[in-house]
This record gives sequence, structure tokens and C-alpha cells, in this order.
Amino acid sequence: MGNVVFYRKYRPQNFESVTGQGSIVKTLTNAIVNNKIAHAYLFTGPRGTGKTSMARIFAKAINCQNRKDKEFEPCNKCQSCLTINDGSSLDIIEFDAATNTGVDEIRALQDNAKIKPVNSQYKIYIIDEAHQLSKSAYGALLKILEEPPEYIIFILATTNPEKMLKTILSRVQRFDFKKLSVDEIIKKSEAILKNEKIEYELPALNLIAKEADGGMRDAESILGQITTMSKKVTLSVVENIIGGISQNKIAEFVDILIAKDNKKLFQYISDLDNNGYNLEEFYKSLIEYAQNLLTIKISFDLASMFKHDLTEDFINILKNQAEKTDIKFIKKIIKRLVENQTYFNVVQNQRLPIEISVLEITED
Ligand SMILES: Nc1ncnc2c1ncn2[C@@H]1O[C@H](COP(=O)(O)OP(=O)(O)O)[C@@H](O)[C@H]1O
Ligand SMILES: [Mg+2]
Ligand SMILES: [Zn+2]
Repeated sequence: MGNVVFYRKYRPQNFESVTGQGSIVKTLTNAIVNNKIAHAYLFTGPRGTGKTSMARIFAKAINCQNRKDKEFEPCNKCQSCLTINDGSSLDIIEFDAATNTGVDEIRALQDNAKIKPVNSQYKIYIIDEAHQLSKSAYGALLKILEEPPEYIIFILATTNPEKMLKTILSRVQRFDFKKLSVDEIIKKSEAILKNEKIEYELPALNLIAKEADGGMRDAESILGQITTMSKKVTLSVVENIIGGISQNKIAEFVDILIAKDNKKLFQYISDLDNNGYNLEEFYKSLIEYAQNLLTIKISFDLASMFKHDLTEDFINILKNQAEKTDIKFIKKIIKRLVENQTYFNVVQNQRLPIEISVLEITED
């Protein structure tokens, strides 16, 4: 399964299957039901949050031949919906401003806008990366927006709304798409993997979701990459792919920390450094790990809090370590690490903050 496939195959085809973006869905579907369609919309937000998908769903819904009064979902079966889905619709014009910045393209668009839609009620222009339109292109666009023919709708999409002209902003209805939460990304990832009949570990999906930083598309392409090379989505495969720091390494380090073996600790830090690990990331992961250790130390029952983050095996490692140490020591680990974190801002050497912390933690 190639990685292109996932984000194409699982692009939401109706409002219901859009993850998150609840208030945007609500406003747009209300507009459809009440037949209050604006002439120009602006969809802003980070990449992979559903701007293009939503634009197409909206376009399908308002042109759908099977949609009844008071309904808002596109049928995905009629001629209009089908041609929009396969990109062959004459009435939905998708336009990438990053590659078509010239006046000529906008002139052509201006001319084209004078022609009524062929098979549908509306002619819809979806302009991606709209902030990259040239000045003259903006001028032409504004001209259309001043007196738009009643069948014309513009949906401008951009990741950089601050770069849009105020004159355009004042003529559009704006929607701010939000990053998807880790839980939302995990949920859609699970649905995809179940459908593909691919096994997975929840902590692996959690790591993917964190790495994707709110963008579903990135999560889907990581998932795609993994499934081309592994039958199961495991934490270690994901870590390999995104170069994350394995919990394994941190667990090992904490073992030596509990043994208070400074020589080994310094050796370990130097090995990490020489192997190209980002020590600041390691440091942060270590704090998080110690926090988990503290929680487990307080009560094993609290382990259920980590089911998203950690495998069964790791929870057992944590439990073992918790038995070997006491709350006071774990608290010391966390305090020293947090206090010394500011060193990263003032010293060049990435090893120093962690070395100082280690010494302070192991001294009596
Ligand atoms: N809100 C969302 N719900 C479900 N899937 C999403 C969502 N946002 C993005 N995706 C997934 O990511 C892919 C790219 O999304 P797209 O709508 O093109 O994002 P954008 O235009 O904001 O960059 C989609 O095909 C879909 O698989
Ligand atoms: Mg897009
Ligand atoms: Zn339809």
C-alpha cells in the first residue's frame, strides 16, 4: 500500500466524516439548509486540517442533484457529485495560486466567470494558497467580487491569512480550521488501519499523532510509509521512521540513574550525542518519563492513564523501576531536570545540561 493512497482514499466525502472542525461544519450546513450561500469564503488554517476537503464537500452539497430541501449532505452518487469526486467537473474550478500567479490566468478566470455553469446551479472556484496571488491577480479577483454573478462562488484557502489583502478579507466569510487533536488523529488512524486490516499498537499511533502536529495528512502519510514496510504498526517501527527517541533508551538511562553510576551515565550521554540524537529532545522525554515513573510509584492503579502512550511491556518496566526506587529520588530527578532545562538556552554544548543534572541527581 503506497503512502499516496491513504490521504486520497480516506479523504472525507461528506460533512459527517470530517474529523473535528465542528463549528465550521455547523455553520456551513446551516447555510446550505437555509439556502444562504455567500459568494466568497476564506478557509484558513494549518496544512492537512481539511480545507480542500471541506471546500469540495461544500461544492458537492450545493450542486448535488439528489439533495432535497432541508438536507445538507451531498449524495456522492449523482452526475454532479461523481464528476467533482473524480476531478472532471466543469463547474468546479480548482486553481493553485502558488503555480498560477500571473495576470493571464486570472484574466482567463475572469472570462470564464462570465460563462454560466454547465450542469449545475453554481460555478465554484477553489483557489488554493490564495495568499500567493499576485497584486494584479488580486485586482482582477476583487473586480469579480465587487459584482459577482449570482451563480459564482469563491472558496479561497490559505495557510497564511496574514498575507491576504484587507480588501479581500473584508469581502469573504472566514473560517479558521483548527489543528486536529492527538485523540482525533488517533481515532481516524485506527479507523483506517481497521479498514485496511492492519494491526497496530496504540502507543505507535500516539507517537504518529504527536509527530503529525495536528495535520491529518501528515499522519496518513506516515501510516502509509509504515504499511509499505511492515505488517504491523509498532512503536519501534514508528520510532525508526520518525527518528524519535525510544522509550527503551530512556528506560535504560533511568536504570543507570537509579544505580547512580556516574561513569556509565556520562558514557551513555556521550554515545547518544555521537549517534546523532537530539539531546534536548532526550532531556524532555526524560522529564516526561520520570513523571510517569512518579505516577506509577504513587500507585500501580494509575497505569491506566498511560494506555495511549505506553505499551504493556513499558508499563511493566516502569513498575519494576518504581519498586527499585523511592518517591523522594524520583522527585529529585524531575526537580533537577526541570530546574536545569534553562541551560539549553545559554550554553552551546548540548551535553552540559544533562551532565550537570545527572551529577546533582546522584549526589547525596
Ligand atoms: N478534518 C479532517 N478530517 C478527516 N480527514 C482529514 C481532515 N483534514 C485532513 N484530512 C485528511 O488529510 C488529507 C488532506 O486534507 P486537505 O483537506 O487537503 O487539507 P488542507 O487543504 O487543509 O491542507 C485528506 O485527504 C484527509 O485524508
Ligand atoms: Mg489544501
Ligand atoms: Zn449528488
